[in-house]
This record gives sequence, C-alpha cells and structure tokens, in this order.
Amino acid sequence: MRVFVTGATGFIGSTVVQELIKAGHQVLGLARSEAGAKSLIAAGAQVHPGDLEDLEGLRSGAAMSDGVIHTAFIHDFSKFKENCEIDRRAIEALGGALADSERPLIVTSGTGMSATPERLMTEDDVPPSGSSGTPRVSEQTALSMLARGVRASVVRLPQVHDRDKQGLVSYMIAAARQKGISAYVGAGLNRWPAVHRLDAAPLYRLALENGSAGARYHAVAEEGVPVREIAEAIGRGLKIPVVAKSPEEAASHFGWLTFFAVMDAPASSVLTQQRLGWRPTQETGLIADLDQASAFGG
Ligand SMILES: NC(=O)c1ccc[n+]([C@@H]2O[C@H](COP(=O)([O-])OP(=O)(O)OC[C@H]3O[C@@H](n4cnc5c(N)ncnc54)[C@H](OP(=O)(O)O)[C@@H]3O)[C@@H](O)[C@H]2O)c1
Repeated sequence: MRVFVTGATGFIGSTVVQELIKAGHQVLGLARSEAGAKSLIAAGAQVHPGDLEDLEGLRSGAAMSDGVIHTAFIHDFSKFKENCEIDRRAIEALGGALADSERPLIVTSGTGMSATPERLMTEDDVPPSGSSGTPRVSEQTALSMLARGVRASVVRLPQVHDRDKQGLVSYMIAAARQKGISAYVGAGLNRWPAVHRLDAAPLYRLALENGSAGARYHAVAEEGVPVREIAEAIGRGLKIPVVAKSPEEAASHFGWLTFFAVMDAPASSVLTQQRLGWRPTQETGLIADLDQASAFGG
C-alpha cells in the first residue's frame, strides 16, 4: 500500500515509517522542514511537504494514498487546547479525503484519555466526550468519521519508551532535574501502562492491514507501572532524593503534568492481541530503559 504518514519524522512516526517500508509498503511522509524531508528520504520514504494547519495539503496527501496513519501532534502544552483543535481539524481533513472508500485511517490517541482508575481499561472502554479539562478528542473525531464512510480506527498509546525518550516520563525527568528532587504523589501506587517504541510500530501496521472500522487498539506491553517506581528510577538516574508529595503539593512540583501524575490508568491489550495477532516482543521494560536512559548519561 502507499501510506500517508503524518508525524513521520517524530519519535513514533519515524519508527512506523521504518516498519511500513520493511513490510513492503510505500510511504508518503508529511514533513514541515528541510531536515525532516531529508530524514524521510534517507529512510526510503517520499516527502509530502506541509503542516498540520495546511488542511488542503493534508487532504491531497490522503487523496493520493491507499491509507493514512496520523501520528503528528504539536506537543506545546502551554497551548494544549489550541493544539487539540488543530489536531481535530487535521483528522477531519484526512478523513474527508477517504470518505466512502475502504482506505483506512489510523489515528493516534493515548490510554490516558480513557483511564478507568482501579481497573484495567480495555479497548471497549469509551473515552468521555471532550471537555475543557480533557480537550484532546483525536479518538472521538476519528470515530465520528465512520458516519461519513471512513474506515477509521484508533491506536491508543501508553508511555512509549526507548533509552532516549519515555513519553510523559521525560517530562517527569525534566521537573525532577529542575527541582532537585524526584517526586510522586501520595503512596505513588497509581499506574501508567507502557510499551517499547519498537513494539508500538508493528501495531500501526497491523491496524492498517487488517484493522476493523471503529476499532480501538491498545499498544500496551506493561499494563501498569507504579509511578513510585518511575520516580525511584529517576531518582537513581539523577542521583537526587525521591520524595512523596501530598495531592495539595503536587501542582507546585508537576505543573501541567499534575493531571497525569495522579492518574491511575492501567490498561490491557488482550483484545488487541486477540483481534490483530499483535504481540509485544521487546524484553526491555520502562524501568529497564530508564535505568539505561540517555537523559542520565546512559
Ligand atoms: N510518546 C509517547 O509516549 C506518547 C504517548 C501517548 C500518545 N502519544 C501520541 O503519539 C503521537 C506521536 O507522538 P511522538 O512521541 O512521536 O511525538 P513527537 O516525537 O513530538 O513527534 C511529533 C510529530 O508531529 C510533527 N509535528 C509537530 N507539529 C507539527 C505541525 N505543526 N505540522 C506538521 N507536523 C507537525 C513533528 O514534526 P517535526 O519532526 O517537524 O517536529 C513530528 O513528526 C502524538 O499524537 C502523541 O501525542 C505519544
């Protein structure tokens, strides 16, 4: 298939591009810079120059492809609401170009958007509708396109890690470095699910090749790593004290990350494994990657 990939130069998208090419697909990757275009060509992809706000460009990339994988997102959390709105419009533009066809649209979401505290979230759990507290509606927008005849499905990501980046944990590291302590909230027993970057990419490919319209897939290898263990790994890495914060104190340490720092979001991928035959195969878990993290000189 010829696949249009947004975010093709990003942490996850670049791995998806490699996975698709390795499997014999052709990739048309969205790039907004010269450097991005060069990296795509080096990876064996074709370049579609453009930006998430260039909706006509997104439509044309989707229109000339047999399927679309959307992994781009503007990760400037000081403008999170605006960026969620840009994401929503981008998904509608991509989907619009695929309406009334069998061409798949795979959209990225996060397991944290649909967290079910104290029980394992499954693929069948539906996220709350967007609100001012939870403005990211990638998943809801993608699935709203079903009504327009778009074969849309969703990949929900947990913390995606390798030795260089670890999802929201990378922001925890930055906060710890800045404050000189590594913190968790309460007893730190709340959990974040995780997956190795090299395991996340094949799930996108399987969803593209064999996914069902309306499906939600979980790229989850570890169902729930206690945040206290993550904070302890950061403390070891930075050689700084590990400190429990009360819920009242959390915001002064974590800032915008507080919403996630207190979140218990364990998630399962049993249904994904059954439905797509996906299996996580990487042996390195989140804590093991943190213990070797480049952020700590590993
Ligand atoms: N990493 C995780 O653990 C995790 C967890 C849950 C959900 N997610 C979601 O997974 C997706 C991919 O995340 P990631 O970690 O790969 O992010 P990333 O490394 O920050 O990559 C983001 C991608 O989006 C592109 N992009 C940013 N702004 C753009 C714009 N204005 N126009 C066009 N492209 C733009 C970037 O292009 P440039 O290379 O030019 O900057 C890059 O290719 C995102 O939706 C993210 O929220 C990630």
